[in-house]
Amino acid sequence: MMKVFKRFAFCSLDNYTATTPEQKALVHELGEVIERGMNGNILIIGSVGTGKTHLAYAIMNACAERWKASSGEEYYRSDKVYYTTIKEIIDNIKSSWKDPTASDMETYCKVPLLIIDEIGVQYGTDSERTELYEVFNRRYNDMLPIIAISNHDKGALLHILGQRIYDRLTGGASIFELSGKSYRQGVNYGN
Ligand SMILES: Nc1ncnc2c1ncn2[C@@H]1O[C@H](COP(=O)(O)OP(=O)(O)O)[C@@H](O)[C@H]1O
Ligand SMILES: [Mg+2]
Repeated sequence: MMKVFKRFAFCSLDNYTATTPEQKALVHELGEVIERGMNGNILIIGSVGTGKTHLAYAIMNACAERWKASSGEEYYRSDKVYYTTIKEIIDNIKSSWKDPTASDMETYCKVPLLIIDEIGVQYGTDSERTELYEVFNRRYNDMLPIIAISNHDKGALLHILGQRIYDRLTGGASIFELSGKSYRQGVNYGN
């Protein structure tokens, strides 16, 4: 499901405060993604509150605006850019074993741009990992990009995802490591 959380409804690249060189480079690259699409994957790593989800929504909101401008329709084109979390993918894999019609696998594998947020440690079983691998492998083979987002550093991600997924995700990818303290703590943002 395409979730549009109220908190992120107005996120854009313009209202993201980029202070570090890494943040500026990332905003620049995401601007290119919005204007021209993307070639390789993008991996965004950073501690909590560094604005990773904000940036994911900035892309979606920009795409939605373009869609609205060209079609007059309000809604996200989830067939163009699809935001999800790794937990949601795993949950979907599990529920599709009971009900194959509930599977979102084709979307994960075929949507032109897949954004996977909150890559953490939520998955354990071999069969779950096998299907997850399928998503990364098919997208890799079809040269379809992923924007992957995590609180974990590269070493931890390799451990979490396993070598096969990690290699496909990071091969030729642009990797941005955001640092700094949580934006949630510094600004009265209604948390
Ligand atoms: N650099 C930033 N500029 C503007 N807003 C930010 C920035 N970083 C975080 N925020 C805001 O702070 C809140 C938390 O950010 P979020 O994207 O959820 O962080 P993360 O996903 O990295 O944990 C959101 O409301 C987001 O819009
Ligand atoms: Mg987040």
